[in-house]
Amino acid sequence: MQFGLAGKTALICASTSGLGRATARALAEEGVNVVVTGRSAERAKEVAAELPGAVGVGCDLVADGGAERLLAAAREAVGDLDILVLNGPGPAPGPARATDTAGVAQAVATLVTPQEILVRGTLPAMVEKGWGRILSISSTSVQAPLPNLSLSNLGRAALAGYLKTLAAEVAAQGVTVNSLLPGRIATPRARQIDEAAAQRTGRPLDEIEAASKATIPAGRYGEPDEFGAAAAFLCSTQAAYITGTALRCDGGLVPTL
Ligand SMILES: NC(=O)c1ccc[n+]([C@@H]2O[C@H](COP(=O)([O-])OP(=O)(O)OC[C@H]3O[C@@H](n4cnc5c(N)ncnc54)[C@H](OP(=O)(O)O)[C@@H]3O)[C@@H](O)[C@H]2O)c1
Repeated sequence: MQFGLAGKTALICASTSGLGRATARALAEEGVNVVVTGRSAERAKEVAAELPGAVGVGCDLVADGGAERLLAAAREAVGDLDILVLNGPGPAPGPARATDTAGVAQAVATLVTPQEILVRGTLPAMVEKGWGRILSISSTSVQAPLPNLSLSNLGRAALAGYLKTLAAEVAAQGVTVNSLLPGRIATPRARQIDEAAAQRTGRPLDEIEAASKATIPAGRYGEPDEFGAAAAFLCSTQAAYITGTALRCDGGLVPTL
């Protein structure tokens, strides 16, 4: 596709696998100079080597000072960022009745604090240029909270509220702020979740997967590249009038409008 992004720069958080990697690939194919990241610097460099114009940087986003270090390394590699894609790990699962103060702090430290630091660090250059894209890889759980993921539901909702507030503040400066919500996309993490369920219940993996797919109107998991294509569109020049929104990429999973 022709998304008018050639020569733009992008930091894609947590992009050595799965959704982040597919997003990095889609943007690199549009001529964006992308920074690929993950905790392993070696893996980040390997993944970046497969993409045109990409650079790999190793950094733990959730560690103290991680977001600041990542931002500095990304700037050093490609200059000021035109596109920031927020992504990362989630907190431990568990029911809402079992949450505690430490868990809440962990959820915020994982899903809110590094993201806010990255946004605060990249926004001034975007506003000055009059062009920018901030895209959060989130989850359909911000619209339909998932059982037994109370800390994830809590942290993702907090980030979504902050980004929605921001979207209105910077819309007139050419900066869009959106979220893309995966349902079940066939990434290594999705596979791990099914394998864990198989182990927990003693049922075969293919039975677990079939039951999960049966809840999705499309009847299958999404492909990472389908997700990456949607992410690239939300970052495109054509999507300039789409901001403050959350787009589901879920094969019809969430039943509400
Ligand atoms: N796949 C789905 O269907 C789905 C649905 C809803 C929500 N999500 C959410 O989307 C996010 C990405 O999921 P995915 O399926 O793409 O997972 P994935 O395939 O396991 O990829 C996870 C990526 O995150 C990186 N990462 C993990 N911890 C990190 C840290 N502390 N600092 C920096 N990078 C880190 C990993 O690299 P390293 O291991 O090298 O650090 C890897 O690149 C997760 O938050 C997940 O909960 C996914």
